[in-house]
Amino acid sequence: MPTALVTGATQGLGRALAEALAVRGWDLVVTARDAHRLTETVSALREHGHDVVGLAGDVSDAVHRDDVAGVLTGPAGADRLDLLVHNASTLGPLPLRPLRDLSTDGLAAVLAVNVVAPHALTCSLLPALEAAGGTVLAISSDAGVEHYETWGAYGASKAALDHLTLTLGAEVSSIRAYALDPGDMRTPMHQAAFPGEDIGDRPLPEEVAVPGILALLASRPANGRYRAADLLAATSEVVS
Ligand SMILES: NC(=O)c1ccc[n+]([C@@H]2O[C@H](COP(=O)([O-])OP(=O)(O)OC[C@H]3O[C@@H](n4cnc5c(N)ncnc54)[C@H](OP(=O)(O)O)[C@@H]3O)[C@@H](O)[C@H]2O)c1
Repeated sequence: MPTALVTGATQGLGRALAEALAVRGWDLVVTARDAHRLTETVSALREHGHDVVGLAGDVSDAVHRDDVAGVLTGPAGADRLDLLVHNASTLGPLPLRPLRDLSTDGLAAVLAVNVVAPHALTCSLLPALEAAGGTVLAISSDAGVEHYETWGAYGASKAALDHLTLTLGAEVSSIRAYALDPGDMRTPMHQAAFPGEDIGDRPLPEEVAVPGILALLASRPANGRYRAADLLAATSEVVS
């Protein structure tokens, strides 16, 4: 069975993607900070009959990252990883604020979670990814390309994540590397960005983002930055 590591898999896109992979026979390693929600998530994923390991912790914590890498590469690990999904992410200090009001510590915290942690985890797991001819999938955002007021720290972190991911793809020919813009999604993070706003018109992760990612994994196109909506539209064109 192929194995995937999904960070931040207890709600929103990470949870929906982990569920979709479990249904399709993937073994999973999943993470998040809230141990209670993680236990519930692992139980639900195991109902699909495949191996699921949950590790509670913050991706910006180096000790936690070592534990995660150890599950896959330690004595009990297979030393192979087919898919690494960098999904866990932070918006930074809320409410979102103009750059002039963003503290240095606030910016550093965003970069620690959204940029430094994925890079470190990728490096730890690179031999396992290479052994499997695996895929690194960085969950990006349109904020990494556009310049929305108050989204500067988050947007800069996603631009940096894209750049690191696609540079890795250029450096390591045996793996695939993608930055994936999932589009707006009706999730707790999106609600946190728009407090008090009705976000009911945004699609759930399973409606566009997850099918787009599944299409990406199935077709394994050239390394690059992709939008879930485009991937899904291309799939529909092939079918119709
Ligand atoms: N929602 C959108 O509209 C949208 C649009 C574009 C891009 N994205 C991107 O899509 C991805 C998923 O977003 P989402 O909306 O599904 O987020 P979400 O609803 O906030 O879920 C985030 C998940 O990550 C975990 N997490 C958060 N910080 C973590 C940390 N420091 N260490 C470990 N786990 C952590 C959370 O659990 P714990 O809190 O228990 O840790 C949760 O399981 C993110 O990369 C986000 O930037 C989202």
